[in-house]
Amino acid sequence: MERELALELVRVTELAALAAAPWMGRGDKNSADGAATEAMRAMFDTVSIRGTVVIGEGEMDEAPMLYIGEEVGSMHGREVDVAVDPLEGTEIVAKGLNNAMSVLAVAGKGQLLHAPDMYMEKLAVGPALAGKLSLNDSVRVTVEKAALALGKPISDLTVVILDRERHADKIQELRSTGVRIKFLSDGDVAGAIAPAFPEAGIDLYLGSGGAPEGVLAAAALKCLGGEIQGKLMPDGDEQYQRCISMGLDDPYKLLTVDDMVGTDDVIFAATGVTPGEFLGGVRYTEGQRAETHSIVMRAKTRTIRFVRSLHYLPNKPLLR
Ligand code: FBP
Repeated sequence: MERELALELVRVTELAALAAAPWMGRGDKNSADGAATEAMRAMFDTVSIRGTVVIGEGEMDEAPMLYIGEEVGSMHGREVDVAVDPLEGTEIVAKGLNNAMSVLAVAGKGQLLHAPDMYMEKLAVGPALAGKLSLNDSVRVTVEKAALALGKPISDLTVVILDRERHADKIQELRSTGVRIKFLSDGDVAGAIAPAFPEAGIDLYLGSGGAPEGVLAAAALKCLGGEIQGKLMPDGDEQYQRCISMGLDDPYKLLTVDDMVGTDDVIFAATGVTPGEFLGGVRYTEGQRAETHSIVMRAKTRTIRFVRSLHYLPNKPLLR
């Protein structure tokens, strides 16, 4: 993946984040998502790729744009697969909470798992725990192994999990070990990536969230030297058959980060919409400007770039 593409791609997430941000705290997640999706779609036209969306806003008949199979890019340049989530955390923006981002990953053709829209059980860690844990272990064993590997008491571990009823047993088990738990209201791409940033103070992410979000997190963690393991959770025969038709012979198989992103030839970009563990949110500043905070990385070099941009928006009255 070419180095120059990274900067082109971060402009795409910046624009999507700028489009979503005016909807922060307005109780309207659909408008926030629609604005981000339209902006991302339009900006893709300027990117020098011949891209095919493999993870997007849904199937062709359910999403007007950035649907699975849609071709994006200037149609000059390399053929690539594209995974997008123009607004990861629609409800977060609607409620004015933390950790909403605009996210994408671009990889060589056929290298991103075509994750169906269903839940995935996940375990994600930063570089310090990469290769040391298994999703097949119980929560207690996972926590014990993590503490041992990090050389700290279990009570000093911090685990992130989506605050959901379906996690009641896991949360109870975590509580019984004595770890700290940070609950996410939404946004498990940010949650899964956070352990790779020491300043976030998070040791591991576990629990179930969207499978497409798992692949996006895998792309990021590949660049960051972290790890994510996942298991799809098809609910009923229809979802099971969906997995099979998407080329997954065994839908219940433990998926490694390499199963989700089969190459180092991948770029991940994200821009914060609301403030999060490792990215600031969109901030409106003096002189018709808006400030964005983004991250863009390539797995091949593992370079991590934080991009702070000041956008001049003279013709767009900012909906505050
Ligand atoms: P959206 O931005 O599409 O609303 O997704 C938010 C999210 O929290 C994801 O980060 C997560 O993977 C998924 O929803 C969890 O789903 P659920 O809300 O059903 O637990």
